[in-house]
Amino acid sequence: MTIIALGVPSVSRRVGPAPVGGPLVDTYGRVATDLRVSLTDRCNLRCTYCMPAEGLDWMSGEQLLNTDELTRLLRIAVTRLGVTRVRFTGGEPLLAKHLEEVVAATAALRPRPEITLTTNGIGLHRRAAGLKGAGLNRINVSLDTVDAEHFAHITRRDRLADVLAGLAAAHRVGLQPVKVNAVLDPMTGLEDAVSLLRFSLEHDYQLRIIEQMPLDAGHEWSRGKTLGADEVLATLQRHFTLTPDPAPRGSAPAQLWLVDGGPATVGIIASVSHAFCSACDRTRLTADGQVRSCLFSREETDLRALMRSGADDDAVEGAWRAAMWAKPAGHGINDPDFVQPDRPMSAIGG
Ligand code: 5AD
Ligand code: SF4
Repeated sequence: MTIIALGVPSVSRRVGPAPVGGPLVDTYGRVATDLRVSLTDRCNLRCTYCMPAEGLDWMSGEQLLNTDELTRLLRIAVTRLGVTRVRFTGGEPLLAKHLEEVVAATAALRPRPEITLTTNGIGLHRRAAGLKGAGLNRINVSLDTVDAEHFAHITRRDRLADVLAGLAAAHRVGLQPVKVNAVLDPMTGLEDAVSLLRFSLEHDYQLRIIEQMPLDAGHEWSRGKTLGADEVLATLQRHFTLTPDPAPRGSAPAQLWLVDGGPATVGIIASVSHAFCSACDRTRLTADGQVRSCLFSREETDLRALMRSGADDDAVEGAWRAAMWAKPAGHGINDPDFVQPDRPMSAIGG
């Protein structure tokens, strides 16, 4: 069984300044059409691979983009930069009170982008219908285990039942396909992967297993402490028949496998062991208005400061283009001189 690696871009680099119009390109010729927007760095869970037990120093209200600033940036992204998909993330985006309003404002943009949400699912059972009504198209719920004890160990909170209720509500209101994102625990992960897949098949959810990346607040990640995609696949293969999904993968980070002949699939996102940076089509905006061209960027472009200094849309667009033009070839996790970004995942947006 092999996983296709897309590595880093091999095309020759373009030089000079960023183009002033057209698609949002980088010097390697990649085009960003997928915008990830973090709405808050706060979270009501404390996943061990993400946050310390005591939480982090949250951004202040003044630091966060307000609704007008955020919707302005979304408009610029969609109408000027060619963004066609918008994903809201966190921290935990359901903790952002203006989520429904921002989703509705995004749905009103033309051409209308596809709108998705990555959430831990807590409180989703109360808000799924409203989010659907506001224009949300699809949802990804982060769930690393269906064992209540494992869940409490991984997230440091006893909230499995809330997450399961959220998933069921999302499915019920038609936020489909409902995807389950799992980052596996090094101790219980192989067992959890098998039960998560059974659970997902039973409930018509699409499971995607994500390799843990060095984005933890404690900077404690080490390769030896995480489960690799090959090991996870080999384990699943002992319980299910997995065959590669013949559908083209495009820029999707997940490699899909048909389970027991299909149509159900399981996805493996091998961000570390089989990087897909050469097909990356993402641009990112943090809750405090910084553009990041990559999860692992060590540089950010401050669109909040630009907007608060009175910059017009042309200037904001130009700064965003320049930020993306400088997108690095790849995350470099496997390079000997790799340096983890200062911000943890919860302050970037997954
Ligand atoms: N590596 C991989 N995925 C992570 N997530 C959080 N931290 C990491 C990490 N270090 C995932 C969450 C969630 C999504 C927002 O990002 O589990 O699914
Ligand atoms: Fe919260 Fe997501 Fe981090 Fe878990 S991984 S603590 S759910 S932000």
